[in-house]
Amino acid sequence: MENAVKRIGVLTSGGDAPGMNAAIRGVVRACLHRGIECVGIRRGYNGLIAGDILRMNASNVSHIINRGGTILYTARSKEFMTQEGQQRAAGTCKLLGLDGIVAIGGDGTFRGVQALSKHGISVVGIPATIDNDIACTDYTIGFDTASNTAVDAIDRLRDTMQSHERCSVVEVMGRNAGHLALYVGLAVGATAVLMPEVDMDFERDVVEKIRRARLSGKTHFMIVVAEGAGSAMEISEKIRTELCLDPRVTILGHIQRGGVPSARDRVMATRMGHQAVEILAAGKTNRVVCAKLGNMIDVDIDEALAMKKGLNQQQLDALEAMTGL
Ligand code: F6P
Repeated sequence: MENAVKRIGVLTSGGDAPGMNAAIRGVVRACLHRGIECVGIRRGYNGLIAGDILRMNASNVSHIINRGGTILYTARSKEFMTQEGQQRAAGTCKLLGLDGIVAIGGDGTFRGVQALSKHGISVVGIPATIDNDIACTDYTIGFDTASNTAVDAIDRLRDTMQSHERCSVVEVMGRNAGHLALYVGLAVGATAVLMPEVDMDFERDVVEKIRRARLSGKTHFMIVVAEGAGSAMEISEKIRTELCLDPRVTILGHIQRGGVPSARDRVMATRMGHQAVEILAAGKTNRVVCAKLGNMIDVDIDEALAMKKGLNQQQLDALEAMTGL
């Protein structure tokens, strides 16, 4: 089966993540290394339906390893969620003679991979989302850069919160997951971190933590809220009422999705891009590239999507020890 693969398509889909360009480059350069042609598909699955393509070569991936966003653009395709859309996308693959598709993105992207595979297309997914919420892999591209962006912003906030002796409530992204909030909360030495996976008791998890911090001499407080854990505005208002503080709310939002990818994201993306091509070249399909204990492995997409990812218990324990004084 080796080298039966002659032409591969690559696309990015869903929310962008820093390092997606490095992953595209990894795929393209791994293809060139093996003598496989590579076709870029623009605008995610919408582009696959419409045949919105770009021939990829060494020069159009030159100087993109250090760029945020995705040169192929991205989309969340409603049309691809329909049987007709999927059939049309599979039709484009056949028309273009694509022997495989590499789809770079998160959970929704992988559901697309699964659907395409059911239409007989060879597919591999690369996990890229700042949420780090894909269960089969230890790491998703973009998480490190997004964490560092949030940490940098919160460090700046801390300066002004410290000067004014204020309480700050900062909302970070993560959709329904708290991995980003937990990691960022540990990195900034937050007073409290609220995550969707942990049922909140406002008295215990916010009021008591602020109170203890005040009793130990602190006069500014940093509350990190995962967007899936509730509204930062509401939490701020409750703090105002219960503790007579005058909090300020900051929603970091899409800032976390942009910027120059970190070294970790570039390296993980390059390795995942390379691995995806190796998987297709070996004749495998319906796989997800996964980082496990420092190595790249691949997992069946149906199994991958059935797995659940909890928060890292050791990180939670460390957070409790740091905030429970
Ligand atoms: O999945 C990545 C993510 O940035 C989430 O953290 C967030 O909830 C969502 O995408 C935002 O999506 P949009 O770009 O559509 O506003």
